[in-house]
Amino acid sequence: MNRDTPIISVDEFGAGLALSSVLIVDDEAGMRNFLMKILGPCCLRVECASNAEDATKLLDENHFDIVVLDNIMPNQNGLDWLKEQRKIGFFADAILITAFADLETAIEALRTGVTDFVLKPFRSNQILNAVARCVDRQELRRENYLLKYELTAENLCVRGRLLGRSEEISKIRETMHKIAPLQTAVLFTGESGTGKEVAARSLHRLSSRADKPFVPVNCAVTSSDMLANELFGQLTRTADGRGTHEDGLLFHARGGTLFLDEIAEMPMPVQGALLRVIDEMRIRPIGSMREVPLNLRFMFATNADLEQAVSEGSFRADLYHRINVVNIHMPLLIKRKSDILALATMFMQKISESLGMPQLPLTEGVLLKLSNYDWPGNVRELRNLIERSVILGEFPPEFNDASHGETGLPDSLEAVERRHILTVLAECDGNRAEAARRLGVSRKTVDRKCAMWDG
Ligand SMILES: Nc1ncnc2c1ncn2[C@@H]1O[C@H](COP(=O)(O)OP(=O)(O)OP(=O)(O)O)[C@@H](O)[C@H]1O
Ligand SMILES: [Mg+2]
Repeated sequence: MNRDTPIISVDEFGAGLALSSVLIVDDEAGMRNFLMKILGPCCLRVECASNAEDATKLLDENHFDIVVLDNIMPNQNGLDWLKEQRKIGFFADAILITAFADLETAIEALRTGVTDFVLKPFRSNQILNAVARCVDRQELRRENYLLKYELTAENLCVRGRLLGRSEEISKIRETMHKIAPLQTAVLFTGESGTGKEVAARSLHRLSSRADKPFVPVNCAVTSSDMLANELFGQLTRTADGRGTHEDGLLFHARGGTLFLDEIAEMPMPVQGALLRVIDEMRIRPIGSMREVPLNLRFMFATNADLEQAVSEGSFRADLYHRINVVNIHMPLLIKRKSDILALATMFMQKISESLGMPQLPLTEGVLLKLSNYDWPGNVRELRNLIERSVILGEFPPEFNDASHGETGLPDSLEAVERRHILTVLAECDGNRAEAARRLGVSRKTVDRKCAMWDG
């Protein structure tokens, strides 16, 4: 056996390896030590079992991305053990290491769903390559699944940062900075279009999970069964008794954030299952006997009154208390009119860029009308209005700058002042301190005026 001393540069095998967890199953202590020495420093977690029984126990306790499996072992051979595990719910990749590579074993290994085959004796970089390849494939599968999911969920437009400098949004941003490093569940409430999903994405980006997936799930669009399958994954048996398996979103989101949108619409049976998951941080795919540990942060959103849903019996009280740990309420746009400017400017720039069409000038007349309107559809309505206007090449008449068309009446002094302050604010990108400097008034004055117009 060629047990060369590992002198390994981890970078050579890709960053994914450093985040992977591996279970080594081999009856020979020398081989376990050798594999431990090679994989230990390169992977996130490596554990060893010397027989099938211990390996089963370890799988019951932990999730492993990959099993490196010896075939010939005293009590039960590796492939038989793997077959058994596939039936009760183990679907990660397996790499078979064996000294006896006959055709029969190879065929059986393929049928059992072994991902790779490494012949003993092997060098350290052979096994590292095999593990790294598995990790890459898993990562690709997961990215592919999540991308497809996001495309169908029509979530593409909600990518932006949480914008706004109003007092309300500043307070929300402050809270988000405080809770970002915690694992605490967060419930976003507020009317439709107020930016609950944008806020949740921003919170995810501020957290240590930023480089892991943010997975939004709309609890209102699917049936109870479909939602359960989508979340928990599913194990089905083929005619010959083998298990086939689809991972759920809870599993695909591992390490990241699961955003359960329109949580009030979640069907009762799924509410019960979710409660268990949140309590125990483990999931059992539907049809599977084995539970898998989870590492997830939960965020929720609703525009419904959850307390009322609880009192009406359509939402479980115990689940409500679990998800309502930190509540972030997104205010109506009409309550923070000073944000209209920053949002309109950003949307105008982004939308014209993405459509390849010219921007429309946000003149003082237009801004005044935008800030006088009451925005029942909140930020989404503002965004849609700007998109429509860019496409049509003009604002709809009710928002058009009528200052060219004469009304005959001169503006009141207050209207002139307001228009001037809004224009300067627009030029400074909503920065009130800078606007105050340019206007030659104190910052307090600008704040006071904005607060008055917000009212
Ligand atoms: N503060 C904000 N900064 C930037 N964009 C925002 C902000 N708030 C909302 N938006 C934009 O408004 C639109 C609606 O936001 P979002 O989907 O987060 O609303 P929501 O509260 O989840 O609404 P619903 O309850 O209808 O799902 C999105 O296009 C988003 O880009
Ligand atoms: Mg939403």
